[in-house]
Amino acid sequence: MDHELDEHRLPAHVAIIMDGNGRWAQQRHLPRIAGHKRGMNVIEEITTTASDLGIKVLTVYAFSTENWKRPAKEIKYIMSLPTIFFKNFVPKLIKNNIKVTTIGDESALPPATQAAVTAAKEDTSENTGMILNFAINYGSRDELVEVMQRLGSFVQQGKLRPDQITAATIASQLETAQFGEAADPDVIIRTSGEQRLSNFLLWQAAYSELVFTNTLWPDFTSADFMDCLLEFQNRHRRFGGVKNK
Ligand code: IPE
Ligand code: IPE
Ligand code: MG
Repeated sequence: MDHELDEHRLPAHVAIIMDGNGRWAQQRHLPRIAGHKRGMNVIEEITTTASDLGIKVLTVYAFSTENWKRPAKEIKYIMSLPTIFFKNFVPKLIKNNIKVTTIGDESALPPATQAAVTAAKEDTSENTGMILNFAINYGSRDELVEVMQRLGSFVQQGKLRPDQITAATIASQLETAQFGEAADPDVIIRTSGEQRLSNFLLWQAAYSELVFTNTLWPDFTSADFMDCLLEFQNRHRRFGGVKNK
């Protein structure tokens, strides 16, 4: 096992399921929202580290299509976070040449949340460095349903034959197609000890390395992030072939 990160074999696309905010707060007898607040600051730290390392795309799962099941008060607080987060962070993102993008259905977000997200994307749209991609109101099944509906309508209009629906045409309609060669995450990190995807990037994760850590997201540090990347580098990706020597 190598103990140092090899900067020539870094993943192009890192995706993170930021989990454990609620448990972090509960352990401290704080309301769950205190965990979300602290978790927001962790995004800033990890973004900066990932950008400094030369990662091309960092996708962070911020809100799932299933998270609407949570108490209204908690949802309201989570939805207020982009406004606070981007106000402070956009100048730093611009300084670091980081571009903000999103995946997920933004149209269902409260207007103020939409406005904050749209402004952050517009203010960083010219940046050419790392892409910081927020999955907000994202669900992989919803994403795939939309792709299938779109392809179905192309077939109905006679623009596409059913046998022309291939893995490549499907991938081209996914929201992650905007990241080109880096559309699929090389590694998906999940904090807090849970070992599941929770409707995150199901198609795109076909050959992602999965790295699970028990650390709760509010406690996750740049050093923990580097450890996860090191674990990724110590895996042997075969993509169905045989081990490359
Ligand atoms: C992740 O932390 C943040 C979101 C899902 C928005 P949780 O809020 O899921 O934290 P736990 O899993 O309850 O500890
Ligand atoms: C997944 O975490 C969603 C995000 C991190 C935004 P959850 O905490 O919602 O997932 P489950 O409910 O434990 O599967
Ligand atoms: Mg959770």
